[in-house]
Amino acid sequence: MSLNNKIEEALNQQIQSEFYSSYVYLSMSGYSDSQNLPGFAAWMRAQSEEERGHAMRLFDYVQNRGGRVRLGRIAQPRLDFESPRVMFEEALRQEQSVTRTIHELYRLAQEEKDYPTEVELQWFVQEQVEEEKTILDILAQLAMIGDQPAALVMLDHRLGGRTDEA
Ligand code: FEO
Repeated sequence: MSLNNKIEEALNQQIQSEFYSSYVYLSMSGYSDSQNLPGFAAWMRAQSEEERGHAMRLFDYVQNRGGRVRLGRIAQPRLDFESPRVMFEEALRQEQSVTRTIHELYRLAQEEKDYPTEVELQWFVQEQVEEEKTILDILAQLAMIGDQPAALVMLDHRLGGRTDEA
């Protein structure tokens, strides 16, 4: 069963969203570096790589199904943030937006009875649960830290030890 046009178009949109996410996190890495937070910068850079991995996973999937990948333009991400906390709030919004589009894509695959796409998307549905939880945990820590620079430096050190990059 080859990909129908609606699914192919929606998967292409999702590939674009994942590349945009990658770009957003890379921009956040640049911001973090500019704030002398190397651990945050490393974490964001690893996250950017992970998002690129998501895009490439879908890229391969479309091609494995005999579909055509069509890459679009990627918008400029936000460059500056008032604080690391505001940056992670933005990251959470980005993940929530990706979760919504993954769910819409999953619903479409069900409607179109495209079972292979449904199965492929299950990994993404679970991944989004993980990603939102990770960011919510960091946001909770940032809320506790408030205006204490020493605590922020400790969190920076911990985030710099991230070892789960794609
Ligand atoms: Fe690939 Fe974090 O969404």
